[in-house]
Amino acid sequence: MPGISSSFELNSVEWRRITDPNCKAFLVDFEYSLLGYDTPTGRLDMLLRYGKGGHCRLHRHVASTVTLVLEGDQILKEIGADGSSRAIHRKKGDYALAPADALPHIEHGGENGGTVMLSMTAPDGILFEYFDDAMNSTGTVSIAEYVDSWVRGTAYGKNQAFGVDQPDLLPGIVSGTEVMWLPAT
Ligand SMILES: [Fe+2]
Repeated sequence: MPGISSSFELNSVEWRRITDPNCKAFLVDFEYSLLGYDTPTGRLDMLLRYGKGGHCRLHRHVASTVTLVLEGDQILKEIGADGSSRAIHRKKGDYALAPADALPHIEHGGENGGTVMLSMTAPDGILFEYFDDAMNSTGTVSIAEYVDSWVRGTAYGKNQAFGVDQPDLLPGIVSGTEVMWLPAT
């Protein structure tokens, strides 16, 4: 049955935090909450909150994505295939509809962070693709994988997302709802 949350009230939804101290290029620190999904039709809705100075992992959206900025700012640096870059700055109240197969980007909040709601449509079920610092693809995450990780209390995204030099990292709960990437044991 589709659906997880009956509310997007930011103070009451379940948040999970992802950090990655192994990423040296920028500070990976964000929280997310799964609002709902419908696997057969390729839909997934989520909240994303950037910690102060925190970034998402380097990724691109394979799914078509609607973004609503609920709090603060969302700042993107899109990276083109030729190495060029384009800055995007969205503020509270902004709406954006991005087509599928978007460019890779570095993503973070403003001075006081930011919170966005993402509503994604993925006909083939793939939501995101991840990249290493050299912009090599390191894997994707599907709706099924995302939901499975949520149910199991782990983080979405591939362990390979952090580079071939860290093949033994696995997602794991550190404390409460904080998720970090830990060495496999
Ligand atoms: Fe993004």
